[in-house]
Amino acid sequence: MIISSTTDYRAAAQKRLPPFLFHYIDGGAYAEKTLARNVDDLAEVALRQRVLKDMSQLDTGIELFGEKLSIPVALSPVGLTGMYARRGEVQAAMAADSKGIPFTMSSVSVCPIEEVAPRLSRPMWFQLYVLKDRGFMKNALERAQAAGVSTLVFTVDMPVPGARYRDAHSGMSGPNAAMRRYLQAATHPHWALDVGLLGRPHTLGNISTYLGKNVSLEDYMGYLGANFDPSISWSDLEWIRDFWKGPMLIKGILDPEDARDAVRFGADGIIVSNHGGRQLDGALSSARALPAIADAVKGQIKILADSGIRNGLDIVRMLALGADCTMIGRAFIYALAAAGGAGVSHLLELLEKEMRVAMTLTSVKNVSEITGDLLVRE
Ligand code: FNR
Ligand code: LAC
Repeated sequence: MIISSTTDYRAAAQKRLPPFLFHYIDGGAYAEKTLARNVDDLAEVALRQRVLKDMSQLDTGIELFGEKLSIPVALSPVGLTGMYARRGEVQAAMAADSKGIPFTMSSVSVCPIEEVAPRLSRPMWFQLYVLKDRGFMKNALERAQAAGVSTLVFTVDMPVPGARYRDAHSGMSGPNAAMRRYLQAATHPHWALDVGLLGRPHTLGNISTYLGKNVSLEDYMGYLGANFDPSISWSDLEWIRDFWKGPMLIKGILDPEDARDAVRFGADGIIVSNHGGRQLDGALSSARALPAIADAVKGQIKILADSGIRNGLDIVRMLALGADCTMIGRAFIYALAAAGGAGVSHLLELLEKEMRVAMTLTSVKNVSEITGDLLVRE
């Protein structure tokens, strides 16, 4: 199979993974309109082609919160990454580390913080969800700090899990889910051996470490619904901001008013995101939401953005729309599922190459030159 893009990795991931995992990754909420618009609206962003400006020397690097990134990309937090490849968080984090970009560990990862952080040469980022058992939050933050995590990503667009119809059909949830997953594993032997057997233990590593006993993945979506805390509000975040010494990013901002609140609150950055179309269907795509948010807060706070990025051109587009840095979710997860850490490394090389082509054809020599000036205004 020839692999030259995220689309190819997606197809390869679909072959290798049991359907319940593929559809959990690939799917979104309700009619999946926002999921589709994230990709389509970004693909519609037209950049001005400029020529003959000696583009032989390009610099794709940025500095963010004192960290150097070789490309303006960080890996988004993705739950259950250790179910898509053997100890998947370790593999993805090591690939990001070799590329010189941050890996963000999800609260609901399979591998715990302590299994991943010591393997890396740079500090990782950690994403926090607030459980009704508030003891988890303090425990996770203390452990993240002890493991040298630099940046805290606080996700605010999932006080409750979105309604994802594919999950009920695929065996992720729904009737006889365990039996259906077992049958799917039996017909996907590569996954069954690599992850099903050799990738154990399959638990929520961070939460299990806190509780001192394994949290089973039998009813993962049910667990999220029962344990995530919908009472969360800005005032709960004050304690975290005071406790956490490093940069704090608020992930899941889609409205300029909330972006202004994040500035008032004293966050170091926001991540413009609709959770990859997995939460409020019909919500604006990140590409459409970003310009108004940048108008409201650019320069006062760092603006990161994810949801819909599938190639290096998309990265340049998101920066032109107002982001200081981007993040990718499904793109790296498809590559991880298809080919492990080597797949993620390859994907990151592809993204850099494509970014260089886009920069060459728009005549920008470094990332700080990627601004709204690049956009074709009709
Ligand atoms: C996610 N996302 C997510 N976000 C988060 O803050 N914590 C999490 O645990 C997860 N889990 C998760 C699982 C899966 C399978 C997916 C696809 C996504 C959202 C993620 O961080 C990111 O915002 C989106 O994936 C970005 O959209 P793209 O790049 O996938 O289009
Ligand atoms: C999801 C959660 C875990 O999107 O963030 O499935």
